[in-house]
Amino acid sequence: MSIIMIIINYLLTQLPSLVTTITISHSLNINFKRQLFNERLSSYNLFYDNSLSSCNTTRSLSEDRQRHFHGISQLLQIFQQKIVPYPNNHFYGRGIVLTVGPSQLKFAEVNLKMIELTATKLPIQIWYSSSQISHEIMIGLLRTVPNLNASICCFLMTECRTLTQTWQLNPTHVYKPPSNNQKYKFFPYKPAAIVSATFSEVLFLDCDAYVTRDPEELFLSDPMYLKFGALFYPDAHKSRQHPAVWTLFNTSCTQNEYEFDSAMILVDKRRVWNGLYMTKLINDYYPAFYEHVTDGDKDTFRLAFRYMQVKYYLVMTPCAAGSFNNTHFCGLTLCKTDSLSQHIYVNHIHIFKYEGIKYSPITLGYTRIGLGDPNNNSFFFQHCRLPAAPTSCFHIMKKRTEEMAKTNCYSGNIPLKEIENHAYMLNESLLSKPSKNNRVLMSKTNNFMPNFVENFLRIQQPILNN
Ligand SMILES: *[C@@H]1O[C@H](CO)[C@@H](O)[C@H](O)[C@H]1NC(C)=O
Ligand SMILES: *[C@@H]1O[C@H](CO)[C@@H](O)[C@H](O)[C@H]1NC(C)=O
Ligand SMILES: *[C@@H]1O[C@H](CO)[C@@H](O)[C@H](O)[C@H]1NC(C)=O
Ligand SMILES: *[C@@H]1O[C@H](CO)[C@@H](O)[C@H](O)[C@H]1NC(C)=O
Ligand SMILES: *[C@@H]1O[C@H](CO)[C@@H](O)[C@H](O)[C@H]1NC(C)=O
Ligand SMILES: *[C@@H]1O[C@H](CO)[C@@H](O)[C@H](O)[C@H]1NC(C)=O
Repeated sequence: MSIIMIIINYLLTQLPSLVTTITISHSLNINFKRQLFNERLSSYNLFYDNSLSSCNTTRSLSEDRQRHFHGISQLLQIFQQKIVPYPNNHFYGRGIVLTVGPSQLKFAEVNLKMIELTATKLPIQIWYSSSQISHEIMIGLLRTVPNLNASICCFLMTECRTLTQTWQLNPTHVYKPPSNNQKYKFFPYKPAAIVSATFSEVLFLDCDAYVTRDPEELFLSDPMYLKFGALFYPDAHKSRQHPAVWTLFNTSCTQNEYEFDSAMILVDKRRVWNGLYMTKLINDYYPAFYEHVTDGDKDTFRLAFRYMQVKYYLVMTPCAAGSFNNTHFCGLTLCKTDSLSQHIYVNHIHIFKYEGIKYSPITLGYTRIGLGDPNNNSFFFQHCRLPAAPTSCFHIMKKRTEEMAKTNCYSGNIPLKEIENHAYMLNESLLSKPSKNNRVLMSKTNNFMPNFVENFLRIQQPILNN
Protein backbone atom coordinates (compact mmCIF):
# COMPACT_ATOMS: atom_id res chain seq x y z
CA MET A 1 0.00 0.00 0.00
CA SER A 2 1.42 3.40 -0.90
CA ILE A 3 2.05 5.96 1.78
CA ILE A 4 -0.69 8.15 0.30
CA MET A 5 -3.23 5.34 0.61
CA ILE A 6 -2.15 4.78 4.18
CA ILE A 7 -2.68 8.44 4.98
CA ILE A 8 -6.06 8.45 3.28
CA ASN A 9 -7.10 5.32 5.12
CA TYR A 10 -5.95 6.88 8.36
CA LEU A 11 -7.97 10.01 7.68
CA LEU A 12 -11.00 7.93 6.80
CA THR A 13 -10.89 6.12 10.11
CA GLN A 14 -10.22 9.27 12.10
CA LEU A 15 -12.69 11.65 10.56
CA PRO A 16 -16.08 10.14 10.11
CA SER A 17 -17.47 13.41 8.81
CA LEU A 18 -14.90 13.37 6.04
CA VAL A 19 -15.98 9.88 5.11
CA THR A 20 -19.47 11.17 4.65
CA THR A 21 -18.28 13.83 2.26
CA ILE A 22 -16.06 11.54 0.26
CA THR A 23 -18.15 8.41 -0.07
CA ILE A 24 -21.47 9.95 -1.07
CA SER A 25 -22.94 7.87 -3.82
CA HIS A 26 -25.20 9.42 -6.38
CA SER A 27 -28.47 7.81 -7.31
CA LEU A 28 -28.58 4.29 -5.90
CA ASN A 29 -27.65 1.47 -8.18
CA ILE A 30 -30.28 -1.07 -8.95
CA ASN A 31 -28.77 -3.98 -7.03
CA PHE A 32 -28.34 -1.93 -3.89
CA LYS A 33 -31.93 -0.73 -4.21
CA ARG A 34 -33.17 -4.27 -4.56
CA GLN A 35 -31.20 -5.34 -1.51
CA LEU A 36 -32.58 -2.42 0.53
CA PHE A 37 -36.10 -3.21 -0.60
CA ASN A 38 -35.80 -6.87 0.41
CA GLU A 39 -34.32 -6.03 3.81
CA ARG A 40 -36.95 -3.46 4.59
CA LEU A 41 -39.75 -5.64 3.39
CA SER A 42 -38.75 -8.47 5.71
CA SER A 43 -38.16 -6.26 8.75
CA TYR A 44 -41.45 -4.50 8.05
CA ASN A 45 -43.38 -7.75 7.84
CA LEU A 46 -41.93 -8.82 11.15
CA PHE A 47 -42.79 -5.51 12.68
CA TYR A 48 -46.28 -5.19 11.21
CA ASP A 49 -47.40 -8.67 12.24
CA ASN A 50 -46.29 -8.27 15.80
CA SER A 51 -46.43 -11.82 17.12
CA LEU A 52 -48.16 -10.93 20.37
CA SER A 53 -51.83 -11.46 19.81
CA SER A 54 -52.73 -9.00 22.51
CA CYS A 55 -50.79 -6.47 24.56
CA ASN A 56 -49.75 -7.16 28.10
CA THR A 57 -51.59 -4.62 30.10
CA THR A 58 -52.25 -3.73 33.64
CA ARG A 59 -54.28 -0.67 32.69
CA SER A 60 -57.92 -1.38 33.23
CA LEU A 61 -60.72 0.25 31.31
CA SER A 62 -62.95 2.70 33.12
CA GLU A 63 -66.64 1.93 32.96
CA ASP A 64 -67.19 4.97 30.78
CA ARG A 65 -64.57 3.75 28.30
CA GLN A 66 -65.96 0.25 28.36
CA ARG A 67 -69.31 1.67 27.32
CA HIS A 68 -67.70 3.72 24.52
CA PHE A 69 -65.69 0.77 23.27
CA HIS A 70 -68.77 -1.38 23.21
CA GLY A 71 -70.51 1.25 21.09
CA ILE A 72 -67.51 1.44 18.74
CA SER A 73 -67.46 -2.32 18.32
CA GLN A 74 -71.10 -2.25 17.22
CA LEU A 75 -70.50 0.69 14.87
CA LEU A 76 -67.59 -1.11 13.19
CA GLN A 77 -69.78 -4.10 12.42
CA ILE A 78 -72.42 -1.82 10.93
CA PHE A 79 -69.79 0.01 8.85
CA GLN A 80 -68.60 -3.26 7.36
CA GLN A 81 -72.04 -3.66 5.81
CA LYS A 82 -71.93 -0.09 4.49
CA ILE A 83 -68.71 -0.36 2.52
CA VAL A 84 -69.37 0.58 -1.09
CA PRO A 85 -67.42 -1.57 -3.55
CA TYR A 86 -64.67 0.13 -5.54
CA PRO A 87 -66.37 1.73 -8.53
CA ASN A 88 -64.56 0.27 -11.53
CA ASN A 89 -64.11 2.60 -14.49
CA HIS A 90 -64.97 5.70 -12.52
CA PHE A 91 -61.64 7.01 -11.18
CA TYR A 92 -58.80 7.82 -13.50
CA GLY A 93 -55.13 8.83 -13.41
CA ARG A 94 -52.88 10.19 -10.65
CA GLY A 95 -53.03 13.47 -8.87
CA ILE A 96 -52.47 15.59 -5.79
CA VAL A 97 -55.44 16.24 -3.48
CA LEU A 98 -55.83 19.02 -0.93
CA THR A 99 -58.81 19.99 1.16
CA VAL A 100 -59.36 23.47 2.59
CA GLY A 101 -61.42 25.25 5.18
CA PRO A 102 -61.44 29.02 5.70
CA SER A 103 -58.53 29.09 8.16
CA GLN A 104 -56.35 27.06 5.81
CA LEU A 105 -56.69 29.20 2.67
CA LYS A 106 -53.40 31.04 3.07
CA PHE A 107 -51.49 27.84 3.74
CA ALA A 108 -53.14 26.30 0.68
CA GLU A 109 -51.93 29.21 -1.46
CA VAL A 110 -48.34 28.76 -0.24
CA ASN A 111 -48.68 25.01 -0.77
CA LEU A 112 -49.89 25.37 -4.38
CA LYS A 113 -47.07 27.80 -5.16
CA MET A 114 -44.53 25.34 -3.79
CA ILE A 115 -46.07 22.63 -6.00
CA GLU A 116 -45.90 25.00 -8.96
CA LEU A 117 -42.14 25.47 -8.40
CA THR A 118 -41.51 21.76 -8.90
CA ALA A 119 -42.99 22.05 -12.42
CA THR A 120 -44.83 18.79 -11.79
CA LYS A 121 -47.17 17.50 -14.47
CA LEU A 122 -49.50 15.98 -11.86
CA PRO A 123 -53.01 17.49 -11.84
CA ILE A 124 -54.35 18.86 -8.54
CA GLN A 125 -57.82 18.89 -7.00
CA ILE A 126 -58.66 21.11 -4.06
CA TRP A 127 -61.80 19.93 -2.26
CA TYR A 128 -64.04 22.22 -0.20
CA SER A 129 -67.64 22.82 0.80
CA SER A 130 -69.50 25.85 -0.51
CA SER A 131 -71.13 26.12 2.94
CA GLN A 132 -67.69 27.11 4.30
CA ILE A 133 -65.91 28.89 1.44
CA SER A 134 -67.46 30.64 -1.57
CA HIS A 135 -66.73 29.51 -5.13
CA GLU A 136 -65.37 33.00 -5.82
CA ILE A 137 -62.75 32.71 -3.09
CA MET A 138 -61.76 29.29 -4.40
CA ILE A 139 -61.47 30.63 -7.96
CA GLY A 140 -59.27 33.40 -6.52
CA LEU A 141 -57.02 30.69 -5.10
CA LEU A 142 -56.70 29.07 -8.54
CA ARG A 143 -55.75 32.43 -10.07
CA THR A 144 -52.66 32.54 -7.86
CA VAL A 145 -51.20 29.44 -9.56
CA PRO A 146 -51.71 29.85 -13.32
CA ASN A 147 -49.07 27.25 -14.22
CA LEU A 148 -50.68 24.40 -12.32
CA ASN A 149 -53.20 21.99 -13.78
CA ALA A 150 -55.46 22.58 -10.78
CA SER A 151 -59.21 22.38 -10.23
CA ILE A 152 -61.45 23.14 -7.29
CA CYS A 153 -64.08 20.56 -6.39
CA CYS A 154 -67.09 21.15 -4.19
CA PHE A 155 -68.60 18.36 -2.09
CA LEU A 156 -72.00 20.02 -1.89
CA MET A 157 -72.42 21.01 -5.56
CA THR A 158 -70.68 17.79 -6.75
CA GLU A 159 -68.83 19.75 -9.38
CA CYS A 160 -65.28 20.75 -10.26
CA ARG A 161 -64.06 23.96 -11.86
CA THR A 162 -60.96 25.38 -13.43
CA LEU A 163 -60.59 29.04 -14.43
CA THR A 164 -62.31 28.29 -17.72
CA GLN A 165 -64.60 25.29 -17.18
CA THR A 166 -67.15 23.82 -14.79
CA TRP A 167 -68.24 20.20 -14.93
CA GLN A 168 -70.61 18.00 -12.96
CA LEU A 169 -69.36 14.93 -11.15
CA ASN A 170 -71.41 11.77 -10.82
CA PRO A 171 -73.01 12.42 -7.40
CA THR A 172 -73.01 8.69 -6.59
CA HIS A 173 -69.23 8.86 -6.32
CA VAL A 174 -68.90 12.04 -4.34
CA TYR A 175 -68.65 10.72 -0.80
CA LYS A 176 -69.55 13.78 1.23
CA PRO A 177 -68.03 14.43 4.66
CA PRO A 178 -70.37 14.92 7.62
CA SER A 179 -71.79 18.40 7.98
CA ASN A 180 -69.93 21.05 9.91
CA ASN A 181 -69.04 20.79 13.58
CA GLN A 182 -67.19 23.51 15.44
CA LYS A 183 -64.71 21.43 17.39
CA TYR A 184 -63.32 19.22 14.62
CA LYS A 185 -64.12 21.41 11.67
CA PHE A 186 -61.85 19.96 9.01
CA PHE A 187 -60.43 16.65 10.09
CA PRO A 188 -63.28 14.54 8.70
CA TYR A 189 -62.78 16.11 5.24
CA LYS A 190 -59.54 14.31 4.49
CA PRO A 191 -60.71 10.75 3.84
CA ALA A 192 -63.82 12.13 2.10
CA ALA A 193 -61.59 14.11 -0.31
CA ILE A 194 -59.32 11.13 -0.98
CA VAL A 195 -62.18 8.77 -1.85
CA SER A 196 -64.11 11.44 -3.81
CA ALA A 197 -61.23 12.85 -5.88
CA THR A 198 -61.53 11.67 -9.48
CA PHE A 199 -58.00 10.19 -9.51
CA SER A 200 -57.46 6.47 -8.97
CA GLU A 201 -54.09 7.21 -7.34
CA VAL A 202 -53.88 10.06 -4.85
CA LEU A 203 -51.15 11.98 -3.09
CA PHE A 204 -52.98 13.74 -0.29
CA LEU A 205 -51.27 16.74 1.33
CA ASP A 206 -52.31 18.84 4.29
CA CYS A 207 -52.27 22.55 3.44
CA ASP A 208 -49.12 22.96 5.56
CA ALA A 209 -47.31 19.93 4.12
CA TYR A 210 -45.13 21.48 1.43
CA VAL A 211 -43.51 19.55 -1.41
CA THR A 212 -39.75 19.82 -1.72
CA ARG A 213 -39.46 18.10 -5.13
CA ASP A 214 -41.75 16.75 -7.84
CA PRO A 215 -43.64 13.89 -6.16
CA GLU A 216 -44.63 12.18 -9.41
CA GLU A 217 -41.71 9.72 -9.12
CA LEU A 218 -43.25 8.28 -5.94
CA PHE A 219 -46.23 7.02 -7.96
CA LEU A 220 -44.00 5.70 -10.70
CA SER A 221 -41.18 3.99 -8.87
CA ASP A 222 -41.40 3.90 -5.09
CA PRO A 223 -41.00 0.17 -4.42
CA MET A 224 -43.07 0.02 -1.22
CA TYR A 225 -45.84 2.08 -2.79
CA LEU A 226 -45.87 -0.30 -5.74
CA LYS A 227 -45.87 -3.28 -3.36
CA PHE A 228 -48.52 -2.13 -0.85
CA GLY A 229 -50.56 0.53 -2.66
CA ALA A 230 -50.44 2.74 0.46
CA LEU A 231 -47.66 4.78 2.07
CA PHE A 232 -48.21 6.45 5.42
CA TYR A 233 -45.87 8.49 7.64
CA PRO A 234 -45.22 8.51 11.39
CA ASP A 235 -45.84 11.15 13.98
CA ALA A 236 -43.06 11.31 16.60
CA HIS A 237 -45.00 9.31 19.20
CA LYS A 238 -45.37 5.62 19.76
CA SER A 239 -49.02 4.64 20.04
CA ARG A 240 -50.67 6.29 23.02
CA GLN A 241 -53.92 4.35 22.65
CA HIS A 242 -55.24 2.19 25.42
CA PRO A 243 -54.05 -1.40 24.69
CA ALA A 244 -57.65 -2.58 24.45
CA VAL A 245 -58.00 -0.56 21.24
CA TRP A 246 -56.13 -3.19 19.20
CA THR A 247 -58.54 -5.91 20.21
CA LEU A 248 -61.42 -3.59 19.43
CA PHE A 249 -60.06 -3.15 15.91
CA ASN A 250 -59.35 -6.86 15.53
CA THR A 251 -55.58 -6.49 15.13
CA SER A 252 -52.40 -7.68 16.85
CA CYS A 253 -50.81 -5.58 19.60
CA THR A 254 -49.61 -2.45 17.84
CA GLN A 255 -48.38 -0.33 20.72
CA ASN A 256 -44.84 -0.25 19.30
CA GLU A 257 -46.03 1.20 16.04
CA TYR A 258 -45.81 4.98 15.78
CA GLU A 259 -48.94 7.04 15.46
CA PHE A 260 -49.55 8.48 11.99
CA ASP A 261 -48.89 11.99 10.84
CA SER A 262 -51.58 12.00 8.19
CA ALA A 263 -50.30 15.21 6.52
CA MET A 264 -49.02 13.14 3.60
CA ILE A 265 -50.73 10.02 2.28
CA LEU A 266 -50.03 8.16 -0.93
CA VAL A 267 -52.66 5.64 -2.01
CA ASP A 268 -53.75 3.57 -4.95
CA LYS A 269 -57.50 3.53 -4.38
CA ARG A 270 -57.94 0.47 -6.61
CA ARG A 271 -55.89 -1.55 -4.13
CA VAL A 272 -56.74 -0.16 -0.71
CA TRP A 273 -60.30 1.03 -1.26
CA ASN A 274 -61.84 -0.95 1.62
CA GLY A 275 -59.37 0.55 4.09
CA LEU A 276 -60.00 4.05 2.78
CA TYR A 277 -63.76 3.66 2.74
CA MET A 278 -63.75 2.34 6.31
CA THR A 279 -61.61 5.35 7.30
CA LYS A 280 -64.19 7.60 5.68
CA LEU A 281 -67.05 5.97 7.62
CA ILE A 282 -65.16 6.26 10.90
CA ASN A 283 -64.59 9.95 10.24
CA ASP A 284 -68.28 10.42 9.40
CA TYR A 285 -68.97 9.30 12.97
CA TYR A 286 -65.95 11.03 14.45
CA PRO A 287 -67.41 12.02 17.84
CA ALA A 288 -67.36 8.34 18.81
CA PHE A 289 -63.76 7.86 17.70
CA TYR A 290 -61.75 11.06 18.08
CA GLU A 291 -62.06 11.23 21.81
CA HIS A 292 -61.33 7.64 22.76
CA VAL A 293 -59.15 6.06 20.10
CA THR A 294 -57.42 8.75 18.05
CA ASP A 295 -56.51 12.41 18.14
CA GLY A 296 -58.32 13.73 15.04
CA ASP A 297 -58.26 11.82 11.76
CA LYS A 298 -54.64 10.70 11.99
CA ASP A 299 -54.91 7.20 13.44
CA THR A 300 -58.29 6.46 11.91
CA PHE A 301 -56.37 5.43 8.77
CA ARG A 302 -54.31 2.73 10.41
CA LEU A 303 -57.13 1.47 12.61
CA ALA A 304 -59.49 1.25 9.64
CA PHE A 305 -56.89 -0.43 7.42
CA ARG A 306 -56.06 -2.92 10.14
CA TYR A 307 -59.71 -3.60 10.87
CA MET A 308 -60.32 -4.29 7.17
CA GLN A 309 -57.06 -6.27 6.91
CA VAL A 310 -55.71 -3.97 4.22
CA LYS A 311 -51.94 -3.70 4.55
CA TYR A 312 -50.03 -0.43 4.30
CA TYR A 313 -46.40 0.58 4.48
CA LEU A 314 -45.32 3.03 7.17
CA VAL A 315 -42.25 5.00 6.03
CA MET A 316 -40.54 5.07 9.43
CA THR A 317 -37.60 7.29 8.40
CA PRO A 318 -37.40 9.93 11.16
CA CYS A 319 -36.78 13.40 9.69
CA ALA A 320 -37.14 16.94 11.02
CA ALA A 321 -36.01 20.43 10.04
CA GLY A 322 -35.34 22.95 12.77
CA SER A 323 -32.76 25.13 14.47
CA PHE A 324 -29.22 24.26 15.53
CA ASN A 325 -27.16 26.44 17.87
CA ASN A 326 -23.85 24.61 17.53
CA THR A 327 -24.68 22.19 20.33
CA HIS A 328 -28.41 21.48 20.35
CA PHE A 329 -30.82 20.72 17.58
CA CYS A 330 -34.53 21.42 17.93
CA GLY A 331 -36.59 19.78 15.20
CA LEU A 332 -39.65 21.84 14.34
CA THR A 333 -41.08 20.11 11.26
CA LEU A 334 -41.71 16.55 10.12
CA CYS A 335 -40.17 15.77 6.76
CA LYS A 336 -41.11 12.76 4.63
CA THR A 337 -39.00 10.65 2.31
CA ASP A 338 -39.65 7.89 -0.18
CA SER A 339 -39.64 4.38 1.31
CA LEU A 340 -35.90 3.86 0.71
CA SER A 341 -34.97 7.26 2.28
CA GLN A 342 -33.38 8.54 -0.91
CA HIS A 343 -34.96 11.97 -1.05
CA ILE A 344 -37.08 14.25 1.10
CA TYR A 345 -40.35 14.95 -0.72
CA VAL A 346 -42.45 16.87 1.78
CA ASN A 347 -41.85 19.10 4.77
CA HIS A 348 -44.77 19.35 7.19
CA ILE A 349 -44.41 22.73 8.89
CA HIS A 350 -47.23 22.59 11.39
CA ILE A 351 -46.15 23.29 14.95
CA PHE A 352 -44.99 26.81 14.03
CA LYS A 353 -48.55 28.07 14.25
CA TYR A 354 -49.29 26.32 17.54
CA GLU A 355 -46.07 27.43 19.23
CA GLY A 356 -45.85 30.91 17.70
CA ILE A 357 -42.52 30.17 15.97
CA LYS A 358 -41.40 32.47 13.13
CA TYR A 359 -40.54 30.99 9.75
CA SER A 360 -36.91 31.98 9.27
CA PRO A 361 -33.55 30.78 7.94
CA ILE A 362 -32.77 29.86 11.55
CA THR A 363 -35.89 27.94 12.54
CA LEU A 364 -35.72 25.93 9.29
CA GLY A 365 -31.94 26.02 9.01
CA TYR A 366 -30.92 22.42 9.69
CA THR A 367 -32.41 19.04 8.95
CA ARG A 368 -31.81 15.79 10.79
CA ILE A 369 -32.62 12.39 9.41
CA GLY A 370 -32.23 8.82 10.66
CA LEU A 371 -30.92 6.52 7.94
CA GLY A 372 -30.86 2.79 8.27
CA ASP A 373 -33.47 0.10 8.65
CA PRO A 374 -36.32 2.16 10.03
CA ASN A 375 -38.57 -0.80 10.85
CA ASN A 376 -36.20 -2.11 13.45
CA ASN A 377 -37.46 0.59 15.75
CA SER A 378 -34.01 1.45 17.01
CA PHE A 379 -34.11 5.21 16.47
CA PHE A 380 -35.17 7.50 19.24
CA PHE A 381 -37.80 9.68 17.58
CA GLN A 382 -39.85 11.74 19.96
CA HIS A 383 -41.74 15.01 20.12
CA CYS A 384 -41.13 16.44 23.57
CA ARG A 385 -40.30 19.55 25.55
CA LEU A 386 -37.23 19.75 27.76
CA PRO A 387 -37.73 21.49 31.12
CA ALA A 388 -37.67 25.28 30.63
CA ALA A 389 -37.20 24.97 26.86
CA PRO A 390 -38.95 27.68 24.84
CA THR A 391 -40.61 25.18 22.49
CA SER A 392 -41.16 21.47 22.10
CA CYS A 393 -38.87 19.78 19.58
CA PHE A 394 -38.65 16.67 17.45
CA HIS A 395 -35.65 14.69 18.66
CA ILE A 396 -33.93 12.09 16.51
CA MET A 397 -31.17 9.92 17.94
CA LYS A 398 -29.52 6.73 16.85
CA LYS A 399 -30.54 4.80 19.94
CA ARG A 400 -32.75 5.24 22.94
CA THR A 401 -30.50 5.57 26.00
CA GLU A 402 -31.24 5.16 29.71
CA GLU A 403 -31.60 8.90 30.09
CA MET A 404 -34.07 9.15 27.21
CA ALA A 405 -36.07 6.25 28.58
CA LYS A 406 -36.41 8.14 31.88
CA THR A 407 -37.23 11.63 30.60
CA ASN A 408 -38.62 10.59 27.21
CA CYS A 409 -36.66 13.50 25.76
CA TYR A 410 -33.05 14.10 24.64
CA SER A 411 -31.04 16.80 26.39
CA GLY A 412 -27.54 16.08 25.06
CA ASN A 413 -25.43 17.61 22.31
CA ILE A 414 -25.34 16.70 18.64
CA PRO A 415 -22.14 14.69 18.02
CA LEU A 416 -19.90 16.37 15.47
CA LYS A 417 -19.60 13.22 13.41
CA GLU A 418 -23.28 13.48 12.58
CA ILE A 419 -22.87 16.84 10.92
CA GLU A 420 -22.47 16.67 7.18
CA ASN A 421 -21.35 19.47 4.97
CA HIS A 422 -22.33 18.29 1.55
CA ALA A 423 -24.78 20.02 -0.77
CA TYR A 424 -26.94 17.31 -2.33
CA MET A 425 -28.11 17.67 -5.88
CA LEU A 426 -31.72 16.84 -6.72
CA ASN A 427 -30.71 13.55 -8.27
CA GLU A 428 -28.46 12.51 -5.41
CA SER A 429 -29.62 10.03 -2.76
CA LEU A 430 -29.40 10.82 0.97
CA LEU A 431 -29.09 7.14 1.74
CA SER A 432 -25.93 5.47 0.53
CA LYS A 433 -24.09 2.28 1.44
CA PRO A 434 -22.28 3.70 4.49
CA SER A 435 -25.50 5.05 5.96
CA LYS A 436 -27.44 1.84 5.59
CA ASN A 437 -26.86 0.74 9.14
CA ASN A 438 -28.56 3.02 11.55
CA ARG A 439 -26.98 6.40 11.23
CA VAL A 440 -28.20 9.91 11.93
CA LEU A 441 -27.11 12.77 9.71
CA MET A 442 -27.62 16.47 10.06
CA SER A 443 -27.03 19.08 7.41
CA LYS A 444 -28.17 22.52 6.36
CA THR A 445 -31.73 22.17 5.13
CA ASN A 446 -30.82 23.59 1.73
CA ASN A 447 -28.17 20.91 1.42
CA PHE A 448 -30.70 18.13 2.00
CA MET A 449 -33.54 19.85 0.15
CA PRO A 450 -32.01 22.14 -2.47
CA ASN A 451 -33.43 25.71 -2.23
CA PHE A 452 -36.35 24.71 -0.03
CA VAL A 453 -35.78 27.30 2.68
CA GLU A 454 -35.28 30.26 0.38
CA ASN A 455 -38.23 29.30 -1.83
CA PHE A 456 -40.54 28.69 1.11
CA LEU A 457 -39.57 31.91 2.91
CA ARG A 458 -39.93 34.00 -0.25
CA ILE A 459 -43.33 32.52 -1.07
CA GLN A 460 -44.89 32.49 2.40
CA GLN A 461 -43.75 35.98 3.44
CA PRO A 462 -46.31 38.08 1.50
CA ILE A 463 -49.11 35.53 2.00
CA LEU A 464 -48.93 34.50 5.65
CA ASN A 465 -47.97 37.95 6.96
CA ASN A 466 -50.83 39.58 5.12
C1 LIG B 1 -26.92 14.62 -11.26
O1 LIG B 1 -27.06 15.88 -11.88
C2 LIG B 1 -25.84 16.53 -12.14
C3 LIG B 1 -26.15 17.95 -12.63
O2 LIG B 1 -27.29 17.97 -13.45
C4 LIG B 1 -25.05 15.70 -13.15
O3 LIG B 1 -23.82 16.33 -13.41
C5 LIG B 1 -24.80 14.32 -12.55
O4 LIG B 1 -24.15 13.49 -13.49
C6 LIG B 1 -26.12 13.67 -12.14
N1 LIG B 1 -25.80 12.44 -11.43
C7 LIG B 1 -26.47 11.30 -11.60
C8 LIG B 1 -26.02 10.16 -10.78
O5 LIG B 1 -27.40 11.20 -12.37
C1 LIG C 1 -32.40 -4.87 14.43
O1 LIG C 1 -31.22 -4.23 14.86
C2 LIG C 1 -30.44 -4.99 15.73
C3 LIG C 1 -29.31 -4.12 16.27
O2 LIG C 1 -28.96 -3.12 15.35
C4 LIG C 1 -29.95 -6.23 14.98
O3 LIG C 1 -29.17 -7.02 15.82
C5 LIG C 1 -31.17 -7.02 14.50
O4 LIG C 1 -30.77 -8.12 13.71
C6 LIG C 1 -32.10 -6.16 13.68
N1 LIG C 1 -33.35 -6.88 13.42
C7 LIG C 1 -33.92 -6.95 12.21
C8 LIG C 1 -35.20 -7.72 12.15
O5 LIG C 1 -33.47 -6.44 11.22
C1 LIG D 1 -46.74 -10.85 28.09
O1 LIG D 1 -47.20 -11.69 29.12
C2 LIG D 1 -47.00 -13.08 28.87
C3 LIG D 1 -47.67 -13.88 29.97
O2 LIG D 1 -47.39 -13.31 31.21
C4 LIG D 1 -45.48 -13.35 28.75
O3 LIG D 1 -45.27 -14.71 28.45
C5 LIG D 1 -44.90 -12.49 27.64
O4 LIG D 1 -43.50 -12.65 27.57
C6 LIG D 1 -45.24 -11.03 27.88
N1 LIG D 1 -44.81 -10.26 26.73
C7 LIG D 1 -44.19 -9.09 26.83
C8 LIG D 1 -43.78 -8.42 25.56
O5 LIG D 1 -43.95 -8.57 27.90
C1 LIG E 1 -55.00 18.35 -16.51
O1 LIG E 1 -55.41 17.24 -15.73
C2 LIG E 1 -56.47 16.49 -16.28
C3 LIG E 1 -56.80 15.41 -15.28
O2 LIG E 1 -57.31 15.96 -14.12
C4 LIG E 1 -56.07 15.92 -17.62
O3 LIG E 1 -57.17 15.22 -18.19
C5 LIG E 1 -55.64 17.04 -18.55
O4 LIG E 1 -55.14 16.51 -19.75
C6 LIG E 1 -54.54 17.89 -17.90
N1 LIG E 1 -54.26 19.04 -18.71
C7 LIG E 1 -53.04 19.37 -19.09
C8 LIG E 1 -52.91 20.60 -19.90
O5 LIG E 1 -52.06 18.70 -18.78
C1 LIG F 1 -60.94 -10.48 12.69
O1 LIG F 1 -59.83 -10.92 11.92
C2 LIG F 1 -59.88 -12.27 11.52
C3 LIG F 1 -58.61 -12.59 10.77
O2 LIG F 1 -57.50 -12.15 11.47
C4 LIG F 1 -61.10 -12.52 10.67
O3 LIG F 1 -61.18 -13.88 10.32
C5 LIG F 1 -62.35 -12.09 11.42
O4 LIG F 1 -63.47 -12.20 10.59
C6 LIG F 1 -62.22 -10.68 11.91
N1 LIG F 1 -63.36 -10.33 12.75
C7 LIG F 1 -64.15 -9.28 12.51
C8 LIG F 1 -65.23 -9.03 13.51
O5 LIG F 1 -64.00 -8.53 11.55
C1 LIG G 1 -28.26 25.81 22.70
O1 LIG G 1 -29.54 25.43 23.15
C2 LIG G 1 -29.53 24.67 24.36
C3 LIG G 1 -30.94 24.16 24.60
O2 LIG G 1 -31.89 25.18 24.46
C4 LIG G 1 -28.98 25.53 25.48
O3 LIG G 1 -28.97 24.79 26.69
C5 LIG G 1 -27.55 25.92 25.10
O4 LIG G 1 -27.03 26.78 26.07
C6 LIG G 1 -27.51 26.60 23.75
N1 LIG G 1 -26.12 26.74 23.36
C7 LIG G 1 -25.62 27.84 22.79
C8 LIG G 1 -24.18 27.78 22.42
O5 LIG G 1 -26.31 28.81 22.57
